[in-house]
Amino acid sequence: MINFKQEIAKVIAKETNLNEKELETYIETPKDSNNGDYAFPCFRLAKELKKAPQVIASEIKENIQIDENIIEKIDIAGGYLNFYVNKSLMTKEVLGEVANSEDYGKSSLGNGKNIVIDYSAPNIAKPFHIGHLRSTVIGGALYNIYKHLGYNVIGVNHLGDYGTQFGKLIEGYKLWGQEYDIEKDPINELTKIYIRINNLCKEDEEVLEACRNNFKKLEDGDSYCVEIWKRFRDLSLKEFQKVYDLLGSKFDSWNGEAFYSDKMPEIIDILESTGKLVESQGARVIDLEESGINTPCIIEKTNGSTTYATRDLAAIMYRARTYDFDKALYVTSYEQVLHFKQVFEVAKLLGLDEKYIKGLNHISFGMVLLPTGKMSTREGNIVKLEDLLNEAIQRAEEIIEQKNPELENKEEVAKKVGIGAVIFNDLANSRVKDEIFDWNQILNFQGETGPYIQYTYVRTKSVLERVEKTPEIFEVKVEALLDEYSQKVIRLLYDFEDTLIQVTKKEEPSILSRYLIDLAKAFSSFYNENKIIVEDIDIQNARIYLTYAVGKILKIGAELLGIEMPNKM
Ligand code: ARG
Repeated sequence: MINFKQEIAKVIAKETNLNEKELETYIETPKDSNNGDYAFPCFRLAKELKKAPQVIASEIKENIQIDENIIEKIDIAGGYLNFYVNKSLMTKEVLGEVANSEDYGKSSLGNGKNIVIDYSAPNIAKPFHIGHLRSTVIGGALYNIYKHLGYNVIGVNHLGDYGTQFGKLIEGYKLWGQEYDIEKDPINELTKIYIRINNLCKEDEEVLEACRNNFKKLEDGDSYCVEIWKRFRDLSLKEFQKVYDLLGSKFDSWNGEAFYSDKMPEIIDILESTGKLVESQGARVIDLEESGINTPCIIEKTNGSTTYATRDLAAIMYRARTYDFDKALYVTSYEQVLHFKQVFEVAKLLGLDEKYIKGLNHISFGMVLLPTGKMSTREGNIVKLEDLLNEAIQRAEEIIEQKNPELENKEEVAKKVGIGAVIFNDLANSRVKDEIFDWNQILNFQGETGPYIQYTYVRTKSVLERVEKTPEIFEVKVEALLDEYSQKVIRLLYDFEDTLIQVTKKEEPSILSRYLIDLAKAFSSFYNENKIIVEDIDIQNARIYLTYAVGKILKIGAELLGIEMPNKM
């Protein structure tokens, strides 16, 4: 498709002798379409060109040569240059692209670039909770979107399968293993053991010490400890898989924390050689005061066992070598901000290429708050994700039962709607915001929700069913789509690829969620204002085709977020 922004930037660059790529980033979309389709803020050049914005604007307007078949009109408002694109051309471009490509918005932008996304990462022997859901959903959406833009993406599930908690579990298992039916309901039973041993640790320093030593033994390869640990891990993974099946999540690597067990000595050697690894109260730490981080990063605990941070350092080294990443994204809640600050700072000491250090990025997100407040495994106040997802499906089924009892494949549709609603809710707002999990809002078909997008998609489908067949692109006369409502839709469709690029610039899938809501709303207005089945066959063909295009892009967009579309609902 023609890149209108680029066309505009090109001529301004020619006129001003400034960098075209940079100019392109200045170009905005006016809120009010009466101010044109694109706007260039001339005040951004005032300093460099040593002229008033108004002067710059009129000089550019007078002097630039721009193809009138691309930009029909330019005017000046305030310090802005407003550009009006040739609407027929934009319409033709968009619909042509829809007709020609199965993967609208697909791009080669990311070719040759490697992106590692570390997401989901639940902890073995603990419930997969709603915070991990957010990580799974946000990371999964980023994964799909980067892929769509042509990047080589590696999704890593950095399982929490190592650490002192296993020392505790092993101790609990030793003490009371017989009392629990771990095979039958592994996570619940292990959680009970974990809560019980934790309480005992609070009272009894000696038990705590035994737990710490169990982990040390595990790290040293003690066969009893390793065997129990393996069993916990296998049983937990089987449970987690149920959630991944419901969500449709896939990973390229399941290398969890334990995977780095033999890769840490190298890290510790390197850190030692820098002379910055120092003793502190029996532990070995890197002081980060100089970098403005007040808490030192603990590399080795008092008893010589490693930490979460050491394993992350080994993972950075491994990922740099194995994947040669341009970006390594870590999707976790903002509770881990300090952890990643420390780890990324210490990573600078590993002697890695600057490129890798620059590529490290913590993608933090807010808490999911239940009406009952926050949850934590240690206190035993947990919402199990599998239960939550099943409840979503069940609630969706009840709504369908009320609204459309005759629907075929009710169960399958309920699954798509229920799961889609939960996923969309996680992605609806900017990720740093805390999110309140409220069933009524999530499943509201009229609200800004997943079901609303699915419902709009289903509407496009039923429009298409009203004609014998969807017209071919050569039967579409773009002149029939120059009205305000059609044009609003066309412009959104045009912006799809740019929307995906914005997502990757800010690592913010909510930009795509917002876009899909806007597109669904624009389609509703189009549909309400314009009769689709009409006598004039040119108008009908054009409107049908636009409806088809909207359905197609809604589906591609929703699937990028991880949401499946039903054909009827
Ligand atoms: N297992 C951790 C947790 O549940 C998340 C791991 C995130 N990834 C990482 N490389 N540290 O909090």
